[in-house]
Amino acid sequence: MAGCLRYAARPKFTTYYGCMSPMDSTTPSFSFTPNPAPVSPERRAELMANPGFGRVFTDHMATVSYTEGRGWHDAKVVPYGPLSLDPASSVLHYAQEIFEGLKAYRTPEGSVVMFRPDANARRFRDSAARMAMAELPEELFVGAIEALVRADRDWVPSGEGQSLYLRPFMISNDVFLGVKPASEYLFCVIACPVGAYFGGGCVSVWVSETYTRAAPGGTGAVKCGGNYAASLQAQAESKREGCDQVLFLDSREQRYVEEMGGMNVVFVDGDTLVTPPLGGTILPGITRDTLLMLARARGLKVEERPLPIDEVFEKAASGQFSEAFACGTAAVISPIGKLRRPTGEAVFGDGVTPGALSLSLKDELVGLQTGRGNDANGWVHRIL
Ligand code: PLP
Ligand code: COI
Repeated sequence: MAGCLRYAARPKFTTYYGCMSPMDSTTPSFSFTPNPAPVSPERRAELMANPGFGRVFTDHMATVSYTEGRGWHDAKVVPYGPLSLDPASSVLHYAQEIFEGLKAYRTPEGSVVMFRPDANARRFRDSAARMAMAELPEELFVGAIEALVRADRDWVPSGEGQSLYLRPFMISNDVFLGVKPASEYLFCVIACPVGAYFGGGCVSVWVSETYTRAAPGGTGAVKCGGNYAASLQAQAESKREGCDQVLFLDSREQRYVEEMGGMNVVFVDGDTLVTPPLGGTILPGITRDTLLMLARARGLKVEERPLPIDEVFEKAASGQFSEAFACGTAAVISPIGKLRRPTGEAVFGDGVTPGALSLSLKDELVGLQTGRGNDANGWVHRIL
């Protein structure tokens, strides 16, 4: 897809032409209505100097509508602003909502790239299918992001650890209170320049024995907003316990490690990475998948297996599990210093210094994501 969106400049109204691929000849063009009052370059520079995470938004957003019978239509990039929803809109009542998270990076040469957006597009389709929503063609998912990034290219930061976080999401939009899959949907992409999700150093993690995140047959493996709503009490519990994040256990026995509120989790046992398997209750993280591939390419071993929480505490105590980290788009790799539960604490390394393998995997990953690595797998997707 790289380079397949063309930009035809006209003074007031500009059109992004979507990529007409033989697989999906219906991919529409994106019309472009420029924001009449964009953030000034001075204010933008100020905001981008210290953007935090998820508070500063760019000048535009991309939207595409879906209506049963008509399909996907009205693809546009418009000024960022409130959506107008009927109070009976089905998403407000029955939560047919899904989202994705990915990033655009500024390369050392000044171009702009994304990392494995096709994987996010596929996962978005899987999420839609599970939630009985209309499935967005992958070309349109990537095309919408490209159109938005092109419009808001000046918002892609170049500072260390910074990127433009992209948040594609879709809501059902039927005005009807009957419980059924909707016949209208709105797909939207917004973007925000971001720095690190966590501050520096190691994160501390609370193992919740009160709440679980997902049950077999449920929605744990897809990215629907409801999963996150259901995690908030557990996250609040972890804050009360003085921790940064929550780790969930399986819902059947509360015995096996699953994942964190917004990240997968990996433990380091010598030259082996140990992580819970994808079994339908955890999100198949693209960062997780990438790191496991990078680790295998380095000759490290990877064990994707049910991992009892007691084993984690025992092997942390003996020093066999020398490192642990959380991984995800927002978190990248965040080394875990400590896990806490009501009966005690598991400390990795000295509890405050990030482990060497976590750091070197992070370096390799960030190098690839920012276009500085050897992209042997064709993961880097150039936009500009
Ligand atoms: N698990 C959950 C619950 C998440 O929200 C995320 C973030 O997207 C991840 C794992 C990591 O997924 P990815 O690496 O694709 O961002
Ligand atoms: C991401 O890493 O992109 C996520 O979606 C996790 C969190 C910010 C919700």
